[in-house]
Amino acid sequence: MPNHHSFILAGVMGWPIGHSRSPKIHNCWFAQYGLKGAYVPLKVEPAKLETALRALPALGFSGCNLTIPHKEAALTVLDRIEENAARIGAVNCVVVEPDGALTGKNYDGYGFVASLYEAAPKWQAASGPCIVIGAGGAARAIVSGLIDAGAKEIRLFNRTRARAEKIAADFGAPVAAYPWEERHEALAGAGLLVNATSQGMIGQEPLDLSLDALPTTALVADIVYAPLETPLLAAARRMGATPVDGLGMLLHQARPAFRDWTGTMPDVTPALRALIVADL
Ligand code: ATR
Repeated sequence: MPNHHSFILAGVMGWPIGHSRSPKIHNCWFAQYGLKGAYVPLKVEPAKLETALRALPALGFSGCNLTIPHKEAALTVLDRIEENAARIGAVNCVVVEPDGALTGKNYDGYGFVASLYEAAPKWQAASGPCIVIGAGGAARAIVSGLIDAGAKEIRLFNRTRARAEKIAADFGAPVAAYPWEERHEALAGAGLLVNATSQGMIGQEPLDLSLDALPTTALVADIVYAPLETPLLAAARRMGATPVDGLGMLLHQARPAFRDWTGTMPDVTPALRALIVADL
């Protein structure tokens, strides 16, 4: 149980780390809930990851987040890996246990699904096939979250098909990988479409996908949050589908991590969202 009387320390380890919005999010919550604490960016080079993680208990940290390139490497360093993180193959949250042991967790899939419910409270994972475009780390977390939410069919498409096949093999039913060329027609009947690629990000080409076959009842989610409205989300909005921007996933994955470190489950408020949007 977190100790509320001490100053709570947490942070995010990455390389580079200057881009991370996580300090803003967590420090906003420390202030909002009147907790004494700080969340700091930790620039940790890959060769020093183990040393840095092992220093957390000695420094009095409650835990940390991990971002690129440490999410996968941490799997072999930590003392205990929660099943969810093992299944995704990446750790995004580390908790220092009372005895100093380090537990690895992954809240990215949870955050993604929570962002869908925030945008569309009545959405149901089993209401129609979920289409996921991409097969990197983000796609793995999203697939995991959708399975936990009760998805009955997940259709995976990736430019490099072998990576999609690997995810389908790792997760098993209800996930299946399909040829990249078939992605446009595969949107027929879908309840959810997710862009889990970097396409649509500032400086990148838009995702090459026709929404003609997509039902207007579908949710269209993007992991990209800069810009907040990607070309894909703009197209979804124009056709009457429900767009879900990538900021929700970032904000919602942070909630259970903050809870683990402080004992307080924080809220994603319009003020918090506005604070981060102003910084994009
Ligand atoms: P992350 O772990 O953050 O998801 P990643 O492993 O680099 O990042 O994955 C990026 C995703 O964007 C991949 O699915 C990638 O497709 P490939 O596996 O074929 O590389 C996808 N992606 C990147 N550029 C793309 C492009 N021009 N067209 C289609 N997909 C692209």
